[in-house]
Amino acid sequence: MRKLILLLLFIPLVVGCNSSVEDSTKSLNVIVINSNDTMLFDKNVFYIEANKKITLTLNHKGIMRKDIMGHNFVLLKRNVNIEAFLRKAMNSKENDYIPFGEETIAYTKLLGGGESDTITFTIQDPGRYLFLCSFPNHFPMMKGELIVR
Ligand code: CU
Repeated sequence: MRKLILLLLFIPLVVGCNSSVEDSTKSLNVIVINSNDTMLFDKNVFYIEANKKITLTLNHKGIMRKDIMGHNFVLLKRNVNIEAFLRKAMNSKENDYIPFGEETIAYTKLLGGGESDTITFTIQDPGRYLFLCSFPNHFPMMKGELIVR
């Protein structure tokens, strides 16, 4: 079992180069992101308008349990120190890897295979905002940008 898990952890390193980048620059107010057992979001860039309510749904289309292949969507404020945030997140297992603090704008629940969560948020300041999965070691594969105009 352990070998299988190790193998699954390395598959994304091989297929990761194919992760699609959303090239549409159309602003959205309903966003749907899918994730899976190979540790990927299916889209990495979104354009939204400032001061507009955004409804975002994260789906976990895989079958693995959340303690092994959990995914969340965490939207960070700008100017957050990402290394420090990831360190705190890794030590926040009891809170589903969301550290206590002021770094986040919004986040979904931590999902296992087959689960979904929907959140709403509004951003006032135009700019580029990083989003990521805060499950330990998923950040290199599972991140993207929300571009607010
Ligand atoms: Cu993840």
